[in-house]
Amino acid sequence: MTLKKNILALRQKKAIVEKGGGEKAIQKQMAMGKMTARDRILALLDAGSFHEYDMFVEHEERNFGMEGKELAGDGVITGTGTISGAPVCIYAQDFTVMGGSLGLKHARKITKIMDHALRMKMPCIGINDSGGARIQEGIGALAGYGEIFYRNTLASGVIPQISVILGPCAGGAVYSPALTDFVFVVENISKMFITGPNVIETVLGEKISQEDLGGARVHAEITGNAHFYAQSELECFQQIKDLIDMIPHSNQVKAKRITPKKPKFSKKIDDIIPADPKQPYDVRDVILALVDDSKFLEVHELWAANIVIGFGRLSGETVGFVANQPLYLAGVLDCDASDKAARFIRFCDAFNIPIITLEDMPGYLPGVDQEHAGVIRHGAKMLYAYSEATVPKITVILRKAYGGGYIAMNSRHLGADFMMAWPSAEIAVMGPEGAANIIFRKEIMEAEDEDAMRQQKVKEYVEKFANPFVAASKGYIDAVIEPSETLDMLLHALEVSQNKDDYRPAKKHGIPPF
Ligand code: HXC
Repeated sequence: MTLKKNILALRQKKAIVEKGGGEKAIQKQMAMGKMTARDRILALLDAGSFHEYDMFVEHEERNFGMEGKELAGDGVITGTGTISGAPVCIYAQDFTVMGGSLGLKHARKITKIMDHALRMKMPCIGINDSGGARIQEGIGALAGYGEIFYRNTLASGVIPQISVILGPCAGGAVYSPALTDFVFVVENISKMFITGPNVIETVLGEKISQEDLGGARVHAEITGNAHFYAQSELECFQQIKDLIDMIPHSNQVKAKRITPKKPKFSKKIDDIIPADPKQPYDVRDVILALVDDSKFLEVHELWAANIVIGFGRLSGETVGFVANQPLYLAGVLDCDASDKAARFIRFCDAFNIPIITLEDMPGYLPGVDQEHAGVIRHGAKMLYAYSEATVPKITVILRKAYGGGYIAMNSRHLGADFMMAWPSAEIAVMGPEGAANIIFRKEIMEAEDEDAMRQQKVKEYVEKFANPFVAASKGYIDAVIEPSETLDMLLHALEVSQNKDDYRPAKKHGIPPF
């Protein structure tokens, strides 16, 4: 009888916590087009898989009217569940409970589930929807943030960490997502900034909306803080599921292998590159013509579009792609493209995902803007990331491989395991026009018909250098292949790389040009 009573009391206690901040706050949340924290977890995880921890944790603050104030779950829901059968740890801040603000106990619930994820080797997913540090708690809240950042850093490269921004994420709160591997944002819902519009207006006298300052599109397109952009929360959850499905769940296991499927892309791989070497094309077509079922999960799709990164499967195994995109800025490398690729390469390397580089770029973007933005420092990140990576590294030169870009795009000289080139490859210090203008300047200037002479010299240069055979004759390229042979060659390269063992000198860690 007593047990029955206790069970009833437990159910009542749970029901109170499950109501979050109460009906009024929930209605307000929904009026903003947002799901509740609990509904978000249930929508993301496999049905019936969520196990909640620490439901009854309470804050211990006594100041500013906090004494005795009951906050359901202290404003954050934590626990474990599965996504397509794979175990994950998850937390979701509940904006209906005191604006999802973070106090010490709230933070400790988060750090506890992060510790669990790290020990049990599961991905950790954090759903952010919070007014930031709980102002009443002062230093306790700051301590809590610090403890989260510390764990984000410890877990980096051991388990995948995913941040979902589904509401405000302001002030120092932004740094946990920034330390994680993938950030997801949703149109009209995500707001991320260090200093809010009110402060900006007070200090600088500039008026700006939250959306324009740090909305979803801003971070997906301009800052690069967000890796995935969605129009709705449900679309966002599907993106997370696709990602979890594609990547390894710790640095000690391989990604789930699925039954191999042939690419089903309508275009033939031989027909993708235009006959005119100056014409652009979409490098994603090459990827779609290679990957299983033509399924490519693009990361950072809207930012630094001159380089394409993402995951696909080859014969059932996950690989990472880094590909210049001739559709944008002719596929040049610049500050953002270098940052984008370098971080992705390091993710792949940390999680044992082979990297396939598809190369077609005319070099680094010239100009004062880029020089002053630090293209030397940013560009160096890519060199560092490729050189440091010990996973299988395979490059296919599709077309242009000029200058510093040739070296940077996983060249043999940075430790590529396999270098292949299509017959359309042009491997040279610079483009034929520029090269001819410099080395044959005298002949061109002295010629009766300057244009004709220039054309002739460009032709000579193309015949001599702008092809894959000079590099192949020196052994820098292992094979010149027809486009239609690419998939077979990639599968061969991956197969023979399975036991790759690469030497690196012992050190505590390197010092990449952050
Ligand atoms: C305590 C908070 C809070 C906070 C919101 N609330 N933020 N309580 N600490 N940081 C409470 C509100 O008082 C309110 O309580 C409820 O949550 C809902 O908030 P509203 O303001 O009604 O919601 P909305 O109009 O949607 O506005 C959301 C908001 C706004 C834009 C996030 O609440 C806001 O500006 N909050 C303060 C943001 C902030 O300055 N945070 C501190 C950042 S400094 P009631 O009881 O009325 O429902 C920081 C430093 C961290 O984070 C450094 C770490 C390194």
